[in-house]
Amino acid sequence: MKIGCPTEIKPQEFRVGMTPDAAREAIAHGHQVMIQKGAGLGAGFPDEDYAAAGAALIDTAAEIFASADMIVKVKEPQAGERKMLREGQLLFTYLHLAPDPEQTHDLLASGCTAIAYETVTDERGGLPLLAPMSEVAGRLAPQVGAWTLQKANGGRGVLMGGVPGVAPAKVLVVGGGVVGTHAAKIAAGMGADVTVLDRSLPRLKYLDDVFGGTFKTRYSTAGATAELIREADMVIGAVLIPGAAAPKLISRADLATMKPGAALVDVAIDQGGCFETSRATTHADPIYEVDGIMHYCVANMPGAVARTSTLALGNATLPFLLALADKGWKQACADDVHLLNGLNVHAGKLTYFAVGKALGIDVISPTLAVK
Ligand SMILES: NC(=O)c1ccc[n+]([C@@H]2O[C@H](COP(=O)([O-])OP(=O)(O)OC[C@H]3O[C@@H](n4cnc5c(N)ncnc54)[C@H](O)[C@@H]3O)[C@@H](O)[C@H]2O)c1
Repeated sequence: MKIGCPTEIKPQEFRVGMTPDAAREAIAHGHQVMIQKGAGLGAGFPDEDYAAAGAALIDTAAEIFASADMIVKVKEPQAGERKMLREGQLLFTYLHLAPDPEQTHDLLASGCTAIAYETVTDERGGLPLLAPMSEVAGRLAPQVGAWTLQKANGGRGVLMGGVPGVAPAKVLVVGGGVVGTHAAKIAAGMGADVTVLDRSLPRLKYLDDVFGGTFKTRYSTAGATAELIREADMVIGAVLIPGAAAPKLISRADLATMKPGAALVDVAIDQGGCFETSRATTHADPIYEVDGIMHYCVANMPGAVARTSTLALGNATLPFLLALADKGWKQACADDVHLLNGLNVHAGKLTYFAVGKALGIDVISPTLAVK
């Protein structure tokens, strides 16, 4: 198969769809790999590394789109890229179609087959191609929160770990899933006094079994949240109700009960945010203040650590990428229901029910598309 990897063109996106190692593996499987010149630079992979892996370096995205059988990317194709997609071409990337009718109609019109990272599943009911970015955002959250807490950035001027004789920062993590668990681990590792709130008892039991002693757990109620935010120096928002907007767990009125200069890090901002006063920010201007409380609400946190994120995403996508290239998408999806769950678009038809429902577009079953 001819596999093509263009440079990401979405603003502030520095990741790349294939690492030099991924290119080397695909080539060892007998495939051709085309990388756009400079595609890996933002993540610290120079062209020479791809050339050493055996990939062809191509000047323009247009040449890649014109000849590749499969396009591997990170972000959803932008309008100009969508015009270059062809009938029969396979697209493997994050798509997030439900809130994006324009992209959905363009993909349908192109006739391509599109497999979305975010809907590929695993045997434990997880989302293996979304999880690495939640791990990254979770681990980053205490780091950016600690920076936000610094006086010069408007924060309370509290050090995460304290020092001998001075209490550490109190960190509240709301939501103990992938983001929350990684955030709590890192915050505790920095020496903070950490509590995780979740409304799932099995999840709280798991966290207590594995991390009891490292951080505390509490069942999530409005009362527990109100009590804990009064004490917190930092609150990390990490809740998710799949397919729904994030619930607003801290209201504007609640801010008045918090310590002035406390930091709110709303990782769930990509689902609308779990604090009433959250609004999406960018890496260029990440924090703002409301009623004396500092907010950090960057919607694409993994972009700040593009190299780590690229490597983490590449580890997760590679087995699927190789299956698609080795067997062709039809056989690969027929052999693996989890990959089949990633199929969103095929030959002008939607194949993912939740997207069809969200956009009012007819859907055919992915099993039918494979046949
Ligand atoms: N900003 C970014 O760059 C970025 C990056 C990655 C993920 N995210 C977002 O972070 C959020 C969390 O993702 P995740 O992978 O950890 O999800 P997850 O499903 O693993 O965890 C979510 C947790 O929230 C809990 N929860 C739901 N409602 C709750 C409530 N009312 N109180 C307390 N807990 C509650 C659930 O029980 C679950 O344990 C998602 O919105 C995801 O899209 C953002």
